[in-house]
Amino acid sequence: MSDRVADVPPPAPSLKERFLAFRDRMVADPRFRDWAARFPLTRPLARRRARALFDLNAGFVYSQILAAAVRLGVFEALREGPRPVPWLAQRLSLSTDATIRLMEAAAALKLVAPRSGGRYGLGALGAALVDNPGVAAMVEHHALFYADLAAPVALLRNPRGGTRLARYWAYAGHAEAEALEAGAVGEYSALMAASQPMIAAEILAAYDLSRHRRLMDVGGGEGAFLCAAGKRHPSLGLVLFDLPAVAERARARFAREGLAARAEVHGGSFHSEGLPRGADAISLVRVVHDHDDAEARALLRRVHAALPPGGVLLLAEPMSGTPGAEPVGEAYFGFYLLAMGRGRPRRMEELQAMLREAGFRDSRPLPTRTPMLTSLLLARA
Ligand SMILES: C[S@@+](CC[C@H](N)C(=O)[O-])C[C@H]1O[C@@H](n2cnc3c(N)ncnc32)[C@H](O)[C@@H]1O
Repeated sequence: MSDRVADVPPPAPSLKERFLAFRDRMVADPRFRDWAARFPLTRPLARRRARALFDLNAGFVYSQILAAAVRLGVFEALREGPRPVPWLAQRLSLSTDATIRLMEAAAALKLVAPRSGGRYGLGALGAALVDNPGVAAMVEHHALFYADLAAPVALLRNPRGGTRLARYWAYAGHAEAEALEAGAVGEYSALMAASQPMIAAEILAAYDLSRHRRLMDVGGGEGAFLCAAGKRHPSLGLVLFDLPAVAERARARFAREGLAARAEVHGGSFHSEGLPRGADAISLVRVVHDHDDAEARALLRRVHAALPPGGVLLLAEPMSGTPGAEPVGEAYFGFYLLAMGRGRPRRMEELQAMLREAGFRDSRPLPTRTPMLTSLLLARA
């Protein structure tokens, strides 16, 4: 049994639990549901519940409409302003009927919006996708996830069964990740780099790195976070640690971005070797949740060993139990990492306990602007 499930007898039900049991009995009764849908005071609640349940059922359909719009380049097509259907049909290589069907569906989802004269413009949600290659790349790669989720019960029963996401995130299913070659790490590294600017903006707004001399980004991918940190803080030394094939990509990026002279790059596996010393700040961005508990604990111990007394760790990733973003942590990342075959989303307090065990003196959450994208913990060695 998982160490997250305590084998203790259930406590006597509280007043709240007795109320919830009563409510569940009522809502499960078709006669009560029929009455609640008719009675004026309960009707709005009944409608909201019915709609929420419908949306859960239809979520996959909504995702496919978004995927079609991204793949066809709808948002780029509307970037300069609203366009009529015949123009869109030609640009998207769709029939007029198919264009209208897609536009009406996308308008209902606020991705586009109908304008005068039979034209369509960007919708409130679609506008955020223009010039946002990170989100577009994320949407594209979800085809793999959807394929893995086609049989969700089979996935729950056999979570390490050669899924598409496990092949995509090659290190997740590989005992010797340091042996991975360039071809195995390129796609995920490019995806991470494309989506990194929005994460970096969150972290750099939440914590001022100017008080540090040298920042080491562990599992730092091809260096996009360090590039953002280095540009914001021109005297910060930059160190990157990632698998050798990914570290090569980081070298190339630092050279392209004119940061090669300031950046030190180390290739290796944090599962099999200690981390380089000399940094007074270390970041783990979207890394810990990729690993099972034993590996995550060992990684935190290695990070602690690499820091001087008083050095800090910034641990940034989406976490479970984030108020207002519960479906993102528990439902989305819970099943994403299940399909990937390794790791799990953790609650802030759980990570704090792991940090204490690893030797960190104290840790505290730093608020981020968009906790759905990432939460942030600051721990001191
Ligand atoms: C989800 S990506 C996050 C990348 C980057 N921090 C970001 O947020 O864009 C996880 C990173 O951890 C690296 N990684 C996984 N296992 C590793 C290992 N054993 N040693 C070193 N790096 C590893 C991967 O190569 C990848 O770059």
